This record gives sequence, C-alpha cells and structure tokens, in this order.
Amino acid sequence: MSTQPDPALGAAVKAADRAHVFHSWSAQGLIDPLAVAGAEGSYFWDYDGNRYLDFSSQLVNTNIGHQHPKVVAAIQEQAGRLCTIAPGFAVDVRSEAARLVAGRTPGDLDKIFFTNGGAEAVENAVRMARLHTGRPKVMSAYRSYHGATAAAINLTGDPRRWPSDTGSAGVIHFWAPFLYRSPFHAENEEQECERALRHLEDTIAFEGPATIAAIVLETVPGTAGIMVPPPGYLPGVRAICDRYGILLVLDEVMAGFGRTGRWFAADHFGVTPDLLTFAKGVNSGYVPLGGVALSAEIAATFETRPYPGGLTYSGHPLACASAVATINAMAEEGIVENAARIGEDVLGPGLRELAERHPSVGEVRGLGTFWAVELVRDRATREPLVPYAATGEANAPMAAFTAACKAAGLWPFVNMNRTHVVPPCTITASEAKEGLAALDEALTVADRYTV
Ligand SMILES: Cc1ncc(COP(=O)(O)O)c(C=O)c1O
Repeated sequence: MSTQPDPALGAAVKAADRAHVFHSWSAQGLIDPLAVAGAEGSYFWDYDGNRYLDFSSQLVNTNIGHQHPKVVAAIQEQAGRLCTIAPGFAVDVRSEAARLVAGRTPGDLDKIFFTNGGAEAVENAVRMARLHTGRPKVMSAYRSYHGATAAAINLTGDPRRWPSDTGSAGVIHFWAPFLYRSPFHAENEEQECERALRHLEDTIAFEGPATIAAIVLETVPGTAGIMVPPPGYLPGVRAICDRYGILLVLDEVMAGFGRTGRWFAADHFGVTPDLLTFAKGVNSGYVPLGGVALSAEIAATFETRPYPGGLTYSGHPLACASAVATINAMAEEGIVENAARIGEDVLGPGLRELAERHPSVGEVRGLGTFWAVELVRDRATREPLVPYAATGEANAPMAAFTAACKAAGLWPFVNMNRTHVVPPCTITASEAKEGLAALDEALTVADRYTV
C-alpha cells in the first residue's frame, strides 16, 4: 500500500513543522525534515512519490517493521476497551506484557518495571542499583549511549553528553573492548579482552570498590558503533562485579528484542545481569514503552520498603497491548530467527564483499540485523572518513555519502564516520540485497574522499 503523491500536502506538513515543532538534537534553523506520508514493512515514503528502504529502522526501533497488522489491530482493540488506567491497578494487558517480557529475559529477571522509553529505564535502573547497594557511583563505557535524561546522559560516553555533563553525577567512564580502534594497543581479540578486563578492575580498585553501585553496559554497544564484545568480556565483567558486590546493568534498549538474532544480546554470551533495561523493539515503538527487568534479589529489596519512583504512564495499556502483540507475532512468525538468518546469509557476506571492493570501508562488524560499516580515509592508518564529532564542512564526506544513499532509495543510519545497517528484523533476503546494492552505489561517493 502506498499513498498517492501529494506535494502540496507535503509542503503544508513541512511548513507547520518548521513553524511549530522543536526537534531533538538540532540547530532548529539548519534542519530540513522529510515530510513522511506513510510506511509499511521495510519501507516508508514521502509526499513527492519517493519511497525509501528503511535501513535505519527509524531510530533502530521498528524491529517488526512498519504497520505490522497484528500490532495495529491490538492497539485498535485495546483503544476500544480501555485506553488508560493508573499504574496502581492490575490490568490484563499489563500483566500479560510483563509475563511475556519476564519469560524471555535471562535468569531470574522476573519482575518488570515499565517506563515510557529507554532513558527512563536507565534512570530507574541506576536508582534501583544505588538504593539496593547503598553506594553512590556508577560506571559506564566510553563509546556508549544510554539516553538523554539526567543520569542517562551522564552515563553516555559520546559527545552528546558534553553540553549536559554536570561533572557531579557520580559516573566514572572506562574503556570497553573495540579491537579495530583498540584503546589497549591489542593485536587480537584475546589480548583486547584480557586488557579491557584488567583496565576495568584497576579502575575499580582506584575508585574504591565500596563506592560503586553498578556497571552499566550496552550488551552490544549500538549507536556508538556496534562493537560486538569478545566472547569472554561480559562473563569477565560479571565475575568482577560479583567479586566486589557491584551490580551489573545491561542496557538492551537497542540490542534487545531480536536485533542481534536472539531475544536479548545477553543470550549470546550466557550472562545474566542484575538489572536489564529495554525499550524500542519491545513493541517496535508503536506506542512509547520501555522498562527495567529486576533480579529476584533486587526485587526483594523493595518487597517491604517502598520503591521511590514512578510514572503516570508506567505500563500504559495501549503500550502494553502493542508489546503483547509484538512479542507474540515475533514468536509466531520466527522474526528473531529471521534476523539471525539474514545476518548470517545476506548482510554479513554482502557487507564483507562490499568491503573488499570499496577502499572507504575500513571494517564491517555485527550480527543479526545489527551491523556497522566503518568508513575511513585511509585503510592502512584507519583514519576515519571524518574526524570524531565533526560538524559542518569537516563532515562533508559523510553528508555526501548520506545524500547518495537517499538518492539511491535507501534511508541510512549514519553516526560520525559510520553507517549502520540496521533494517527491521523482518526484512526479506531480496530487500536486504536491494539495500546492499544501494549501499554499493553510495560507497562509490565515499571512495572519492579516500587517500
Ligand atoms: C542503548 C540505549 N539506551 C538508551 C537509549 C535511550 O532510549 P530513549 O530514546 O527511548 O529514551 C537508547 C536510544 O537510542 C539506546 O540506544
């Protein structure tokens, strides 16, 4: 299904947007938002008759694709029955959403605190960790993103933190493994893993283990570059946490719900955190929803002592109904397995083949429907195609690459010197190949900026 082009309507939508909508992360006068007329499956389209293959899943959240009919129907059905009810009541869809999420989270993470999105989930996980341990500080990695609210943005290890960094949030940053740009001068995965774990334990020793409530990590860091950790890293972090009574919080807001080809990325590593945050893929963002899954031990802390946190819309019925429908559809339709298969059979081999032919590709890495393509000026030195946190003219090569993707009918996810290949987990092999062909075209533009 596609709506008829209507450029005049598109222009009116755009004009009202420019007059009244204040956009995220942007200098308001310097942006030019595309007016979107509709979306279905792996595609969305504008009012001028342009259709885009969505290789971004919007903000890496439409794991089930756009307008999945079972999820749309569940929201409609719930809207007819009960649109809203305060979090203090027990409601069928909220109970069922919590049961379905708890049934998929690893280990004994069986209690679910619902939020409206990812940042609030991280915010509450940190609060729970501090209250449970009685310790003030939290550790997180450079090259990470955890959300834009107070604690979450201070945990974030990228330049989006800088304008909001209070310097007093009790956050300690450390380096996690990333062999391609190794902070430890390592030459192989084993060295990188071993040195990253030693660096973490040394940092804890010098900070004072008894001052640290939690280590917060994206299981597979997403926006910061999709760095799949070496197999031993997360089990090693778990062991360090256990040694010092520090809680492990795994942030699965982006990596969870099928993105890596498993329900949770933690499943690849056999690690159970004390707290797990989720959002995005839990209901593909059809209605805002996130949450924290708590271990039995942390839940017990708040059995007779009140948890000092809450939200008017915690466990909102429309959001929960869409989560129930999403999780059931993902299970019935084998969507998690599809993501794994597409990664192994199409995206992995296809991206590696592009890397062989395009001098601008320094590395491809990932799994499932979660891949990063690292663009470089010089493959030998690994100099990024644009400098870290580049803006304006310095970012021109990435701007040209992005424009070339769009001209080829592909909507890319772009961050710094990388493009991420993060389509819906429902993408078919032929759609994935169509996207790779568009990427092939766009990479010829990136190649022009290589040495
Ligand atoms: C790993 C991770 N944590 C937290 C967040 C914040 O989620 P939200 O934007 O829903 O607040 C994001 C968003 O991209 C994320 O990728």
